[in-house]
Amino acid sequence: MNIPCHIRGLGVHAPERLLTNDDLSTLVDTSDEWITSRTGIRQRHILHDGETASDIGVTAARRALTEAGLEPGDVTHVLVATCTPDKLCPSTACIIAHKLGCGQVMAFDFSAACSGFMYGLSLAQSLLSAQPDACILLVCAEALTRRVNWQDRSTCVLFGDGAGAVALTANSDNAVATLQDVLCTSSSVDNLADLITIGGGTAEEYAPGQPIGEEFFLHMQGREVFKHAVRDMAAICKDILARNNLSVEQVDLFVPHQANLRIIEAVGQRLNIRPEHVFTNVESYGNTSSASVPLALGDARAQGRIRPGDHVLMTTFGAGLTWGAALLRF
Ligand code: UT7
Repeated sequence: MNIPCHIRGLGVHAPERLLTNDDLSTLVDTSDEWITSRTGIRQRHILHDGETASDIGVTAARRALTEAGLEPGDVTHVLVATCTPDKLCPSTACIIAHKLGCGQVMAFDFSAACSGFMYGLSLAQSLLSAQPDACILLVCAEALTRRVNWQDRSTCVLFGDGAGAVALTANSDNAVATLQDVLCTSSSVDNLADLITIGGGTAEEYAPGQPIGEEFFLHMQGREVFKHAVRDMAAICKDILARNNLSVEQVDLFVPHQANLRIIEAVGQRLNIRPEHVFTNVESYGNTSSASVPLALGDARAQGRIRPGDHVLMTTFGAGLTWGAALLRF
C-alpha cells in the first residue's frame, strides 16, 4: 500500500550569535574576499557558550509542532539527523524528546552527515508505511562549529550551526507539503569515507588528561569533495525527475545543499535550471550539514518563494559519501 507522507509543520532555528568573515580573518590567515569569492559565505551562526545541538533542535521542533497544530504528546517517533550529537550516548533524539516532553516515543539518532534530511524523509516514509498512525518528528540539528579546528583556514570558514525540523504524518490535515518521492544513496563501491571525517569516536584511543589530537576535528579534502558533490547531486536530481516524469521546467524551486555557492551554481547549470529558480542562503549560514536544506526551505517560504501547488526539488551531499534528492509538492 502506498501511504502518503505529509509535512504538517516546518520549523527552523539558528543561534543568534554571528561570526562574520572579517571576524574569521582575525583568527586565521584568510579574508572576506577569499571566503566570499570561493564559497559565497558571508557569515555563519554559532552556538552560544553552553548551548547545544539539542537546544537549537528543540526550538526548531517546537516551531514545527506549532505549525502542525500538534502537541509533543502526539509524537510517536523522534528521529534526529546529526553528525554533531550532544554526546555519543545517549542519543540527541532522546535528549530532544525529553526536553520537549514527548512522553514514551521511539527516539534515535542517525548520521548521514549533510544528507540527513533526505535520509530522514526516506526513513519517515518507510515508518509511515509500516505504521500509518505514526506522528514523526524529524529534527536536523548540527553543531559543526564545535568540531571545526579554528586553526585550519581550509575548513573553519565553511561551517555554521543550525537546526530544522518537520512533523510528518500520513494524515493530510492542514498539510504544508507532501513528499512526492525521495532517493538516497552512498558510495559503496569506492572507499571515499576519508574525504570528510570528524573524529572523537571509538576508533581513536583517549586517556583522561591526554591532549586532544588533530583527528578529533573535522577534516575535508575540499577540492575532491567539490567534484563528487557536483556530479552526484546533478545525477540524482536527474534520476528523481525522470522517475516522476517531471521536466526541469516543472520545478518551481530548486533547494540544494548549501555548502558552497559555486557548487550550487554548477549543479544548477548541469540541470539547466534557471538561476531564478535556485534558492540560496549559504551567504547567511555557511554549511550547516543536515540542517542546511530545511533551513533553506524555511527561509524560502518566509521570503514568499514557495506558493501552494509548487514542485520543490531538494538535493544533498555529504560525508560517507552520502547523497540524496527529494521532491515536495506544496
Ligand atoms: O557539506 C559537505 C560537502 N562539502 C562541500 O561540498 C565542500 C566542497 N569543497 C569546497 O567547497 C571547496 O573545495 C573549498 C571551499 C573547501 C575550497 O575551495 P577551492 O577553490 O577548492 O580551494 P583550494 O582548496 O583548491 O585552495 C586554493 C588555495 C590554496 O592555496 P594555494 O595552495 O593555491 O597557495 C589554499 O591554501 O586557497 C587557499 N585557502 C585559503 N586562502 C584563504 C584555503 N582556504 C583558505 C582560506 N582563506 N580560508
